Amino acid sequence: MIIEQIKTHLKDVNDFQSTESQEIQNFRQNYLGKKGILNSLFASFRDIPNEEKKEVGKWINDLKVAVNEKVDSLQNSVAPKTSNTKNDEDLSKTPFPFPVGARHPINIVIDKINTIFSRIGYSVVEGPEIEDDWHNFTALNFTENHPARDMQDTFFVEKDMNSLLRTHTSSVQIRHMKDNQPPMRILSPGRVFRNEAISARSHCIFHQIEGLYIDKNVSFADLKNTLQYFTKALFGKSKIRLRPSYFPFTEPSAEVDVYWGLETETDYKITKGTGWLEIIGCGMVDPNVLENCNIDPDKYSGFAFGMGIERIAMLLYQIPDIRMFYENDIRFLKQFSTEV
Ligand code: PHE
Repeated sequence: MIIEQIKTHLKDVNDFQSTESQEIQNFRQNYLGKKGILNSLFASFRDIPNEEKKEVGKWINDLKVAVNEKVDSLQNSVAPKTSNTKNDEDLSKTPFPFPVGARHPINIVIDKINTIFSRIGYSVVEGPEIEDDWHNFTALNFTENHPARDMQDTFFVEKDMNSLLRTHTSSVQIRHMKDNQPPMRILSPGRVFRNEAISARSHCIFHQIEGLYIDKNVSFADLKNTLQYFTKALFGKSKIRLRPSYFPFTEPSAEVDVYWGLETETDYKITKGTGWLEIIGCGMVDPNVLENCNIDPDKYSGFAFGMGIERIAMLLYQIPDIRMFYENDIRFLKQFSTEV
């Protein structure tokens, strides 16, 4: 009797177990293939008396459903096939010996400078990288058509040119002066942005550290002395010279050169044969800037200075190309793993 046959098949299907995908395929083929059991059952269906067709049809269908369900459930439990043995390695496993991370040279230099200035009472203040025109330019005494506001130098965030990526960290000093009254001694390290062509010596993203000291009777001599202390502490060199310069926010302003020396070929290269290196911009804070921040310029005076971190790191570690700082090449970074 055909129904008895089907019941036996159903039992076989229910009992079938395998974790081999080839075996499961064979099983499927045996029932559902062209010359398989189900097709032969359908073929004999023609000879079934009409009054039994309904019931037999139902049994055949049940068998077909049972085979499909079995194949699906067995296939889901089979592990995905790996194509070659190499892929059996666990790529997420940490190799041994575990590599020790290194601090980034930019952070190492920022920390060194922070430590040097913290010894003479400076504390670190940070501010936003996206600034408005007032904090980055206007409050710092940039006249309306100053070339530094030009699209050439500044990345604007909004079309109205009021929102921009800060071009220096002097903006942080403005924020601090607005919210505090002297005496103040602060350092503001951070990332700055200028729309400059990228080369071995310049980048459109770099870091600065700027200092600000405001109190009663602060003089230019105090500024020079502070910078001398700093260059001695950082480079071991205290011979400096100040050349007149211009910044909108300081008056008078100066450019500071450190006497680096001419002992090696590299010294010749980096100082262009002069022995002198220009590393700091500085000056006495312009009274207009103090006024913009509600500090009385008749009562207080102060100085400010600023420098590029990359340039200093390049000098200290003899790094020939500024782009190396941003490539995150492990071979470059791991050289700093012993620096503290
Ligand atoms: N803000 C100046 C710059 O970006 C550097 C500077 C800071 C100069 C403080 C003088 C005083 O170049």
